[in-house]
Amino acid sequence: MRVLVAGAGGLVGLPLTRELIARGHEVVGTSRNPDTRPELRHAGATVLRMDAFDLASVEHAVVEARPDAVIHQLTDLSVIDFEANAELRIVGTRNLVDAMRRYGVQRLITQSVAWLYADGVGPADETVPLREPTGPGARTVEGVVAMEHASAQIPNHVILRYGKLYGPGTWYSPDGDFGRAARDGVLAGNGIESFLHVEDAVAPTVAALDWPTGIVNVVDDEPASPADWLPVFCRWVGAPQPKGLGPGRGRGASNAKARGLGWVPRYPSWRAGMSG
Ligand SMILES: NC(=O)c1ccc[n+]([C@@H]2O[C@H](COP(=O)([O-])OP(=O)(O)OC[C@H]3O[C@@H](n4cnc5c(N)ncnc54)[C@H](OP(=O)(O)O)[C@@H]3O)[C@@H](O)[C@H]2O)c1
Repeated sequence: MRVLVAGAGGLVGLPLTRELIARGHEVVGTSRNPDTRPELRHAGATVLRMDAFDLASVEHAVVEARPDAVIHQLTDLSVIDFEANAELRIVGTRNLVDAMRRYGVQRLITQSVAWLYADGVGPADETVPLREPTGPGARTVEGVVAMEHASAQIPNHVILRYGKLYGPGTWYSPDGDFGRAARDGVLAGNGIESFLHVEDAVAPTVAALDWPTGIVNVVDDEPASPADWLPVFCRWVGAPQPKGLGPGRGRGASNAKARGLGWVPRYPSWRAGMSG
């Protein structure tokens, strides 16, 4: 298959590109500045310049790539700017979807998130609505809703709601921002949530090229409250043990659908991944 990976040089985009090529796909990857992403060419991808905020640039990428499928891995999180990320989800996804529709590309896989479900009891499956866009984090909800809504306008679409990514290169790692925050004693957690080891993001994203249209949670097996995961995380990153953590609100997400589609996580629990 010819696959256009939008955001091919990112945390998930690069290992995803390597895996797609290893599985015999032809990959065209995008970057705002291809010179800064030499690993993509070394991996065997063709690299195109694309700024998702510029519709002409997105259309150019789609025309040049002539893809059978597009994988949307665009985020703007390298400096933890949630407003910029919401803007990219809203405008960038709109441009990508408009370009795909204009040139007849029928298949889209979109990276979304699994921690915005409405309150309730137990891990949320994909039928649970997302929370209302009010209060802190409202803009993030707006961005995700707009991104998923636009993605669903492509006839064959799979929206992958990833858990909180942890592991090498992520915020949740010894070298990451939250590792540092834990060592400074200022990491608190956000209630019960689901994690995903960064290495476990790649296989289901490749497999999703053959999955039926719909939303799929890609999370590990064990939603956790900060009282569970934060002591393990702190041990891993060399931080003092946290004190006074309650059970936490929230619910995490269920991966029953992804497992039913054949996905088996390499790290079924953050307990295994937050070590070493
Ligand atoms: N589910 C999660 O928890 C989750 C998911 C994703 C990321 N994160 C966190 O976010 C951190 C940063 O992620 P990241 O390394 O993937 O970097 P990032 O800065 O979020 O960029 C991701 C990709 O999006 C592309 N991109 C950004 N803005 C663009 C634009 N306007 N037009 C076209 N492409 C654009 C980038 O391409 P170029 O820079 O090459 O142009 C890059 O390939 C990670 O360390 C991770 O912890 C968490």
